[in-house]
Amino acid sequence: MTPLIEGHQLRKTFAVGRGLFGARRALRAVDGVSLAIEEGETVALVGESGSGKSTLGRLLLGLTPPSSGRVTYRGRALEGLRGEAWRRFRREVQVVFQDSGSALNPRRTVGSSVELPLRYGLRLGRQAARREAAALFERVGLAPGTYLQRYPHELSGGQRQRAGIARAIASHPRFVVADEPVAALDVSVRAQVLRLLRSIQVDTGLAYLFITHDLGVVRAIAGRVLVIYLGVIVESGPVGSVFRDPGHPYTRALLAATPIPDPARRITRPEPLHGDIPSPLAPPPGCRFHTRCPLAQEVCRRMEPPVVPFPDGVEAACHFAVEVRQGVPAGAPTS
Ligand SMILES: Nc1ncnc2c1ncn2[C@@H]1O[C@H](COP(=O)(O)OP(=O)(O)OP(=O)(O)O)[C@@H](O)[C@H]1O
Ligand SMILES: [Mg+2]
Repeated sequence: MTPLIEGHQLRKTFAVGRGLFGARRALRAVDGVSLAIEEGETVALVGESGSGKSTLGRLLLGLTPPSSGRVTYRGRALEGLRGEAWRRFRREVQVVFQDSGSALNPRRTVGSSVELPLRYGLRLGRQAARREAAALFERVGLAPGTYLQRYPHELSGGQRQRAGIARAIASHPRFVVADEPVAALDVSVRAQVLRLLRSIQVDTGLAYLFITHDLGVVRAIAGRVLVIYLGVIVESGPVGSVFRDPGHPYTRALLAATPIPDPARRITRPEPLHGDIPSPLAPPPGCRFHTRCPLAQEVCRRMEPPVVPFPDGVEAACHFAVEVRQGVPAGAPTS
């Protein structure tokens, strides 16, 4: 079956820096990522700050054109979508940001912000859109009588996020990029909003790309996980298998730095790794992780690693993935 949405060798390079002599340098934010997301799936995308998570999300949303590679939706390339096919993509593919509510127009009531996609996306009349907006507010746990008439600044962070979710699901999306949707919320509210996102998925069968720093959130919500480092996917696979037995030293380090992710427990975010993530202006040659890898050998500095597939669905881009999974002890990362 054709996946719902796919990225094929996606690259996104930004020209940055306007130094004294006007030299611009190429920043490789996403550097050759292929992925496929099926209907109804939840795929988590994890990685450190600056690793390219949001950029990859924006590429899939069609908000950023790729420098090379392409996105296909239901098997058709985005750049070829026109007319009704493009409008369908726009309706069916939505985003929830860290503070989606703040992305709502501050000069409109949140109710009228939610009515917009109903009127212009689904082409409902004014009355029908109003009724539907009220139903959506009920769905996300905001009493419509109280909240439809409010402005975004009159809501709490959690309520704004619920309103942002109402707007995102208004047009019956099939795929939602959720970019750190609970990161800005209090721990108590976080669990509620995660449950809401999960229950929306159970009801509607939509698929999520769930971007997060928090491995506890990954375990709570995702079926599959993609680990990104400096713009490349270093490991992917079913969450249970990857968490139990990661095949990439980077994933191992991330997991080792996090207390066992138990969704019921409060998790503080520790420093995940020693050493800084190298600059995407000059990513290390060979394996990008070699500068921080406790297992790095000469080959890692010279050659890009192959993607090694395992029978349990894990794929790890590491020269020593087999050894890593056989439990070669990882020492402290070298600096
Ligand atoms: N519009 C832009 N112009 C120039 N550089 C950009 C732009 N957008 C992102 N970048 C750079 O691309 C890299 C990846 O950024 P991105 O926002 O995708 O990271 P991220 O993984 O989402 O990080 P975070 O966890 O902090 O949100 C970073 O080095 C960032 O500075
Ligand atoms: Mg981001």
